[in-house]
Amino acid sequence: MPRQSLTQAATRLSRRLGQLARVSEDRGATTRTFMSPAMHRANALVGGWMRGAGLSVRVDPTGNLIGRTGAPAKGAKTLLMGSHLDTVRDAGRFDGALGVLLPIAALEVVRSRGLTFPFAVEVLGFSEEEGVRFSSGYLGSKGYVGRLGKSDLRLRDCWGISVGEVLAKNNGGRFSPPGPAHAATELIGYLEVHIEQGPVLEARGLAAGVVSGIAGQTRARIEFGGKAGHAGTTPMPLRKDALAGAAEFILAAEAAARARPPLVATVGQVLARPGAANVIAGAAELTLDVRHPVDAGRRAACTDLRKAGRGIAKRRGLTFCMEVTQDNGAVPCSGELTALLARSVRGREGRCVALASGAGHDAVIVSSLAPVAMLFVRCRGGISHHPGEFVARRDLEAALWIVVDFLSRLASRQSE
Ligand code: GLV
Ligand code: MN
Ligand code: MN
Repeated sequence: MPRQSLTQAATRLSRRLGQLARVSEDRGATTRTFMSPAMHRANALVGGWMRGAGLSVRVDPTGNLIGRTGAPAKGAKTLLMGSHLDTVRDAGRFDGALGVLLPIAALEVVRSRGLTFPFAVEVLGFSEEEGVRFSSGYLGSKGYVGRLGKSDLRLRDCWGISVGEVLAKNNGGRFSPPGPAHAATELIGYLEVHIEQGPVLEARGLAAGVVSGIAGQTRARIEFGGKAGHAGTTPMPLRKDALAGAAEFILAAEAAARARPPLVATVGQVLARPGAANVIAGAAELTLDVRHPVDAGRRAACTDLRKAGRGIAKRRGLTFCMEVTQDNGAVPCSGELTALLARSVRGREGRCVALASGAGHDAVIVSSLAPVAMLFVRCRGGISHHPGEFVARRDLEAALWIVVDFLSRLASRQSE
């Protein structure tokens, strides 16, 4: 196999990211939700690239794509590297995909140079992280680490289909949550490469940086219940408008977060029922997403927002219900792996910054099985969850350099 330069590898990686972005359930936009036909096509495409890199490939019962190098020796440990292959609606081409395709590219470079490591590498393309279909994320990584619980299986999508039903259909009619893919003792750790999704690296003039930790996150489904009625004949004082109550709640959530930085709170989805221009909304469903780097700050905000919702409902004669669908504490990255990764970043960039992640990542869930480290890669304008996501090819090359260097450093450490 000819020796592959990093420039060639980065060019190929960039081309593959574009190719994968065209695998979508929406025409003209990138959208891949859990267990959609597009997700299966993405697994087939990326699985082919994994095979080309010499990995043995399988898809586990939760739909995760797993590519593995051969173990160099009996009892050798495994390094996990990966991210998610699902996307938000109308997504960019890098969020998640970069963390799956870059390790494949790095392993191709390693192979072309004839380098060998005293550990196996498993590249993971998690089937679900964004929580688009079921308003609760991390289904893929939870399946992988053996933490997919009954409450996850009961979650329903907008058609009333549950996670359990979807998984049964994809597993020949039966699904029972798998145990962890590995014993913790078999693992060295997990490295996730991800775009920064923020502006700091760009402002500092750096192609990449390490992550110190990931903010905690709570997601909830909220419902205000009122009374549907005629928009022309029902006098204003006699209305029980669920959507007006929901609007008040959205502003209360915004005000609460503005008053307590670095708290962030978002209502990203609203559904009014029955949903017609001339009908007062009898019900309004909302999603709520609350994040804070300190768990106590997030919990206090959730308690206050629940109270605020109840208060709004009481004043307006509505019902209020808030069901938590996801609750993850803040996760620190491994000091040891991050220090090793930081050396590689300094080797390329001359210096290294450590950033806290406000976005959630598969590393949150994998941290229950193995120490985790994350490499953030600069993206233009900090834009993400948007088709305008962009990473320059020279930054892809820098990230490849850093990951190949990290693998070599890890190999030296493991051989000591
Ligand atoms: C995942 O992208 C999240 O942070 O919501
Ligand atoms: Mn992501
Ligand atoms: Mn995302």
